[in-house]
Amino acid sequence: MIPPQLLLASNNAGKLAEFRALLAPLGCAVLAQGDLQIPEAAEPFDTFLENALAKARHASALAGMPALADDSGLCVPALGGAPGVQSARYAGEPRSDARNNALLLERLHAGLDRSAWFACTLVLVNHPEDPDPLVAQGRWPGRIVEAPRGDGGFGYDPLFEPVATSLFEPVPSGLTAAQLAPAVKNAISHRALALQGLVAALRGRSA
Ligand code: IMP
Repeated sequence: MIPPQLLLASNNAGKLAEFRALLAPLGCAVLAQGDLQIPEAAEPFDTFLENALAKARHASALAGMPALADDSGLCVPALGGAPGVQSARYAGEPRSDARNNALLLERLHAGLDRSAWFACTLVLVNHPEDPDPLVAQGRWPGRIVEAPRGDGGFGYDPLFEPVATSLFEPVPSGLTAAQLAPAVKNAISHRALALQGLVAALRGRSA
């Protein structure tokens, strides 16, 4: 069943708008964690899945309603999957996109495979002890370029050059994610893919 309302375990205004736009047509209203004074959960785990599940359970327990959480980051196989779940604080605290990007370039020295992907995992629990959470994942494949390019986006976008995985994908070649129009990025990113999966799974459950 599609819950008539759920709590988004995030205070990111951009994510809230995206989730609202996609879930409203399903009759599902999205509330923000900050509106209910719910503190952010710890993210101590090694996988996006475990962190998203912990965040969803935490928010659902405190709010007493279904909760949706996401966790995302950049994975570089040549670095053992790093920055991975440490993406936001790869170069330590305080968090800095510029220092994270500089450290990534330093570690990904010449000769290493520059393939990478952005990953996003979404978890929806109907209650804190839900034994069967709904999980949706998105992967956006690409490669890490040699020097940052572009002013758009955030995080590792200036270093990430997406590769098209289908002939019909609107991926302009040779541009980093920070050089893409926001509407293009939002249509093809890891978050978009995970959200599409979530909506499809919700529609399937309502059948
Ligand atoms: P969060 O899951 O939204 O908190 O993202 C964790 C971290 O992953 C961010 O702080 C960024 O460093 C990185 N990240 C996640 N998604 C993106 C993206 O779309 N572009 C660039 N960096 C991202």
